[in-house]
Amino acid sequence: MTVSLAVTGPATLVGTGADGGFAHDLKEALAQRPRSISPKYFYDVQGSRLFDRICTLPEYYPTRAETAILSAHAQHIAAQIGPRAEMVEFGAGSLTKVRLLLDAMDRPARYLPIDISAEHLGTCAAALRADYPALDVLPVTADYTQRLLLPASLPGGGRRVGFFPGSTIGNFTPREALHFLQVACQVLRGGALLLGADLIKDPAVLHAAYNDAQGVTAAFNLNLLERANRELGTDFVPQRFAHSAFYNAPLQRIEMHLVSRCQQYVTLSGERHEFDEGETLHTENSYKFTIDGLRMLAERAGFRPGSVWTDDAGLFSVHWLHAPA
Ligand code: AVI
Repeated sequence: MTVSLAVTGPATLVGTGADGGFAHDLKEALAQRPRSISPKYFYDVQGSRLFDRICTLPEYYPTRAETAILSAHAQHIAAQIGPRAEMVEFGAGSLTKVRLLLDAMDRPARYLPIDISAEHLGTCAAALRADYPALDVLPVTADYTQRLLLPASLPGGGRRVGFFPGSTIGNFTPREALHFLQVACQVLRGGALLLGADLIKDPAVLHAAYNDAQGVTAAFNLNLLERANRELGTDFVPQRFAHSAFYNAPLQRIEMHLVSRCQQYVTLSGERHEFDEGETLHTENSYKFTIDGLRMLAERAGFRPGSVWTDDAGLFSVHWLHAPA
C-alpha cells in the first residue's frame, strides 16, 4: 500500500485511485502464499455499518476509551488547536468523534473528512452540516492511503490540524505508518496532527475485543468474502471460512484471518484458486503501541511530539504532534 498526500492550489480535494482496486488486489492475494489483503476492503456500506456496531460492543474498548479521553480533555485540545482552524480527518467514518472537538473549538472554519465509503460519508456529512451551519464541511471520497490533493489552506485561517483517531494507524505496517506520518507531517506543516493510538495491554483484553460474544467482528471479517461475491462475482461460501483473531505478542499486533474450514476452490475472473483446510487469508493487522514507541515513530517522521492524554485505565492514548513549518 503506498501513501502519498500533496498540497495543491485553491482547487478541490481529489483522491486518485492509484492502486489496483479490489479485483486486482484480491487476485494478487489469492495468488500469494501466505495469502493477505489490505484491511481497507472491509469498508463497503455493509462493512462500515458492521464497524459502527463493533464500536458499541462491550468488549471493544478503543472507541469508549478514546471518546472518554477526547471528552475529558476537549478544552485543552481545543486550546492547542487554536481559533479558526481547519480540521482534516483521515478515514473519517461516521464523523462522531470530531464533534467533541468542534464543540470545544473557537470558531472552527473548515472540516475536510476523507473516507473511502462515499455513501456513508455523504450521509454523515449532511448531518454534520445541519448541526454546524457556520462550518464549511467539504467531504472527500478518497483512499487517503493513495495520492491525495489537498486544497490550499484558507487565507487568514487558523492552523490546519489533522485528526486520525481510532488507532487506524495500527492497521498500517510499520513502514506504511512511518510513510503516512512523514507525508502527513508535510501536508500539515505549521499545524499539527491529533492521533489516537491503542496501547499494549493484557492479551486477554485484546483477545476479547476482537472475538466478541455476539460475533459482530466475525461478521465484519467475513463480509470481505460477501463483498467479493457481490462486487466481483466470486463464489466464496462464507460458511466454509472461520473468523480467527489472536494477539501476536512478538509483533505487538492483533492478527485477523479467515481460515478455510475445508479443502475447497474459489473462482475469481474464471481462475480457480485452491484453499487447503486450515489455510488462511490474512485480512488485518492491528498494531498496539507504547506511548514512547509512538512518540519515537512520530519523531522519525518529522513531528515534534507534544501532549499525550490517556484514559484512567491506560488502555488508549491520544497524541498531539506538532508539524514544524
Ligand atoms: C479501524 N481499526 C482501527 C479497527 C481495529 O481495531 O484495528 C478495525 C477493527 N478490526 C476488528 N475490529 C475492529
